[in-house]
Amino acid sequence: MEELDDLHEPTMCIKEAQELAAALYGADAAWFMINGTTGAIHTMLMGALNPGDVVLVPRNAHRSMIGGLILAGASPVYIQPEIDERLGIPMGLCLADIESAVRAHPEAKALALVYPTYYGVTIDLQAVADFVHGHGMLLLVDEAHGPHLKFSEKLPCQAIDAGADMAAQSTHKIVGSLTQTSMLLARGPRVDLERVRQAASLLQSTSPNQLLLASLDIARLQLAEQGQALIGRAVELAESLRAAINQIDGLWSFGQEYMTQDGASGLDLTKVTVSVRGLGISGPEAEHILRHTYKIQCELSDAYNLLFIISYADTERETGRLLAALQALARDHRGQGSFEAAAKLPRFLSRACCHGRHSLLPWSGCHSCSRLAALQRSR
Ligand SMILES: Cc1ncc(COP(=O)(O)O)c(C=O)c1O
Repeated sequence: MEELDDLHEPTMCIKEAQELAAALYGADAAWFMINGTTGAIHTMLMGALNPGDVVLVPRNAHRSMIGGLILAGASPVYIQPEIDERLGIPMGLCLADIESAVRAHPEAKALALVYPTYYGVTIDLQAVADFVHGHGMLLLVDEAHGPHLKFSEKLPCQAIDAGADMAAQSTHKIVGSLTQTSMLLARGPRVDLERVRQAASLLQSTSPNQLLLASLDIARLQLAEQGQALIGRAVELAESLRAAINQIDGLWSFGQEYMTQDGASGLDLTKVTVSVRGLGISGPEAEHILRHTYKIQCELSDAYNLLFIISYADTERETGRLLAALQALARDHRGQGSFEAAAKLPRFLSRACCHGRHSLLPWSGCHSCSRLAALQRSR
């Protein structure tokens, strides 16, 4: 039906909706994606890289980035992110490490990184953009966790405003579109927009679900009309929650004041990471208790932490329930557990996240014969 337009060569309502999205985010172009940010990242890499191109990638890149490297036939050089040993989590890349990777690989075509991290941690992306552009490289950003950054001055700068050439955003994760829908944004003279459109077309269904596409347009409209108010409220709510959590003996939720180290200069304040290390229980144990005793599901848990996302759909009712559950968790479990991964964790992380080059291209590895091997026996 012609009124529904064609996602692959839009000329009517999809074209208009994508242009409105691009205008809202200050991009030159926006593409609607119906295979999540995975699809957006695949499109971004396929649209920017040629087989054999060298690309600098953080070791903690999401699997969709690795999938994109396979599809593009690109050759990654891995950069180790900073590891915060107190929290046991990777932060962002340090500028000095990016500089030395670029100096070691002047032939690199792009730096492809995640910003913000899942935990909301950001780096000085503008400095990174200036540096890589100065070396003739592209800056491609997995901004899955950043489609709301544009709408509050209390949040870090969004990627394309900091100078990124392209950014893949999970509209469905953080703002209001249906699951599976994301946007790819591009800005500046270094991106071949027609080539990106072709990559998007190659990777997407010829029968896109119109409900999914419409939900992206509705999310865009909601942000255009109420983004500042909605995201501003979520930030305030998250900040009050963080302050209250920090009153609980045994729990700790870091805020902007902690972002003063290499690989961490800013924080998406709507991400509330709660370290349960002081209780002597592990993150997964705390997740299990919250889920089964208090009927609260966290976004994720890791060895020491729980992560919660405070969105504009939350109110004081939800944060109050969460706070009461965390107070009860601390009261009932402080000193009861015996979890202490302190000695093991950083060593494991730093081994898994070493610098350097692969011995096989991801594409070749994917197409080679393989067999299962125990992690301890693999190299
Ligand atoms: C950092 C990051 N990038 C990319 C993705 C992929 O997003 P999607 O699930 O929308 O495909 C995720 C998903 O969790 C993510 O956390």
